[in-house]
Amino acid sequence: MLDSTPMAKMYLICAIVTSFVLRFIHRIYFSPLARIPRAHPTSLISATWVWWRRRNGRESRSILAAHQRHGPVVLLAPNEVSFATLSALRTIYVGGFARTSWFDEFKNYETPNLVTTYDGRQHAARRRVVAGIFSKSHLLRAPDVRDMMQELLFRRLLPALEGEVDVYELALAAGAEFVNAHQLGTAHSMDIMRKERTAARQEYLHLGNVKLRHLPGWQPAQHALEQQLLDLCRPVEAFLRSGKEGRGTFPVVYAQLRNAFAPNDSQVGSLPEKILDIATDLLDNVEAGRVGLGIALAYTMYELSRHPATQAALQQELIALGEELSIDSGTGFSPTTLRIISDLPLLDAVVMETLRRYAPAPGPQRRAVPAGGAEIDGYWLPGGVVVHAAPYVLHRTASVFNDPESWLPERWLNGKGDERRWFWPFGSGGKMCLGNHFAELVMKVVLAGVYANFQTAVSKAQDPALMRPQDDMMGYPEGEACLLVFQKLRACDE
Ligand code: HEM
Repeated sequence: MLDSTPMAKMYLICAIVTSFVLRFIHRIYFSPLARIPRAHPTSLISATWVWWRRRNGRESRSILAAHQRHGPVVLLAPNEVSFATLSALRTIYVGGFARTSWFDEFKNYETPNLVTTYDGRQHAARRRVVAGIFSKSHLLRAPDVRDMMQELLFRRLLPALEGEVDVYELALAAGAEFVNAHQLGTAHSMDIMRKERTAARQEYLHLGNVKLRHLPGWQPAQHALEQQLLDLCRPVEAFLRSGKEGRGTFPVVYAQLRNAFAPNDSQVGSLPEKILDIATDLLDNVEAGRVGLGIALAYTMYELSRHPATQAALQQELIALGEELSIDSGTGFSPTTLRIISDLPLLDAVVMETLRRYAPAPGPQRRAVPAGGAEIDGYWLPGGVVVHAAPYVLHRTASVFNDPESWLPERWLNGKGDERRWFWPFGSGGKMCLGNHFAELVMKVVLAGVYANFQTAVSKAQDPALMRPQDDMMGYPEGEACLLVFQKLRACDE
């Protein structure tokens, strides 16, 4: 008995080692993924290489380098393949492969929302509820959207621009507030852009940052954000029930979700989970607005400040809108203002180029190969393998984007047309960004308002090295600040 214990241990160790060796041999010689070029020699047998790069904030750069070395299809780990072709985008994203559980962290109130509804049919049904009110045609013609944008731009954002401003802080706040104003109406949209609300803005942004980056205390921060949104929803619900005229613009998204999830008035009050069904989507959208729109707006103003000739050309283009954009005249938007802003060619090019060069969500958009397997770009992949493409990689495709690290809006004005097919900051297919038209329109309205009234320059206090985008889930500037100096245009013309 005494002797058998070491023997048993030895047998056990031998069995474990043999099973590992057999697994490695099987993977190397028989895995269907063995034909795929490997990002690293160990990629077929271990996920360590890609894990290490992710852990050290070098994910997207490392995947791009792997594609540059090995071509458009690269094996990152035994169960993970990265693609950089238009055909793969069609198969994976238009083909409707499901998201992986990696997206679970986008849940709020421990309640699934659009992002985390993994079943294809349920997802499509849920998306149909809100697709119309985020469509470009609705946004360009709805009076509530126009009034909302006008109020936020002229009464809240533009008056906050004076002297040296941390544009990153203000852009994050603007992103969240524009989304919330569309969702809950202008009377219930946080109000964190105005100077008088600096303390509330900084407190909110601190919570958002702690939650997003999983810093110590992220769970209490998440709960505080969840509670804050519910507190904003309460008066909206009371207003909808009262049937009276409300203050500000209509709570477009809240009302739409409420009609779908709780058509009977009394359900909302008596069944808390119905409110959470609504709030989980609302909060996810606000977060997307804060970080996605915030990062994109801050980088656009930063680049325009570094490119005075492009800034001056944009100001010339905005003259066409005359008094409608003037902070002093107060004429406000006409029914066609949003459409005109949306169609301005240089403004469009500036927005496109920022979303290309500084894609706010630069990393892989993960999907799972369906049970039964699938062929992608000539490779057969078994069900469950994680496949993806990434904006960071696609936006640096050398044959499409010359000098990809430079910010060159001209490429969208003089391009051959291929650029738009490779433009992928919002993903594609049935699960692509719901807020893409909203985000582009808000960017254009804010930039039009800012550059029709101000000239901007990079502050001497801003270290350019700290504007490098993080290689993370979100590409925010390393220094988490962007100091620009604002000078009123009329004042400097006089
Ligand atoms: C510049 C700003 C933004 C960027 C770069 C961005 C990027 C993205 C990307 C890449 C995805 C796709 C993820 C995937 O393929 O799995 C996505 C999905 C999504 N985004 Fe955005 N987003 C932005 C702004 C917004 C805004 C303002 C909203 C608010 C309405 C929003 C709401 C959503 C939703 C709900 C989804 C999930 C859609 C679905 O599952 O059907 N996003 N976003």
